[in-house]
Amino acid sequence: MNEPFTIRQFQPDDIKQVVSVNLRCLPENYPDQFFMGLFYHAPEAFFVAEHEGEVIGYIMCRIERGISGFGRLPVKKGHIVSVAVLNALRNKGIGKALIHAGMEGMMSYGATEFYLEVRKTNEEAVAVYEKLGYNIRRVLRGYYRDGEDAYLMTKNGSSKEEADDE
Ligand SMILES: CC(C)(COP(=O)(O)OP(=O)(O)OC[C@H]1O[C@@H](n2cnc3c(N)ncnc32)[C@H](O)[C@@H]1OP(=O)(O)O)[C@@H](O)C(=O)NCCC(=O)NCCS
Repeated sequence: MNEPFTIRQFQPDDIKQVVSVNLRCLPENYPDQFFMGLFYHAPEAFFVAEHEGEVIGYIMCRIERGISGFGRLPVKKGHIVSVAVLNALRNKGIGKALIHAGMEGMMSYGATEFYLEVRKTNEEAVAVYEKLGYNIRRVLRGYYRDGEDAYLMTKNGSSKEEADDE
């Protein structure tokens, strides 16, 4: 990669490019309104990665209230709804930078823990999340439309950031 990448907040003008990245990277696709709804819900937790003026990745998140997965108190949870980086630019730290930005953004809304769902067969993403301190909490049977199971992965926002490699 000649030019460095930039992480910045999503702007409504980015919608077509974000939808395009989503279509090219994931089988879970959504109408524009779904992306925009998450933007209006938590604009500070929706980021894009840009490279040479093009959007090449994104993360979008939702803030939810519930009982802590790490205790018994009601908390705000940060849900990573979708994250993707174009295939040709993977494994260069862009996904990690997006996930960090998304978690910072979710913390700014008061989220104290994070979770996400990921296909059991998506070993690449599971490995990335594990590197970022997420743990497999349980299996969600038949979670996806095609019947595939998901892993529910969680991370306690107050625990040490990542596996001791930083
Ligand atoms: C998941 C995804 C966003 C990660 O993006 P990325 O830019 O490739 O990730 P990074 O380069 O930042 O990697 C983060 C860490 O995971 C490691 N990693 C990346 N790919 C890996 C792999 N296949 N196996 C093991 N570790 C891997 C990196 O080495 C890096 O570790 P480091 O912090 O020690 O350097 C990307 O793979 C993707 O878009 N996948 C398709 C869409 C998808 O599956 N999204 C998740 C749905 S839940």
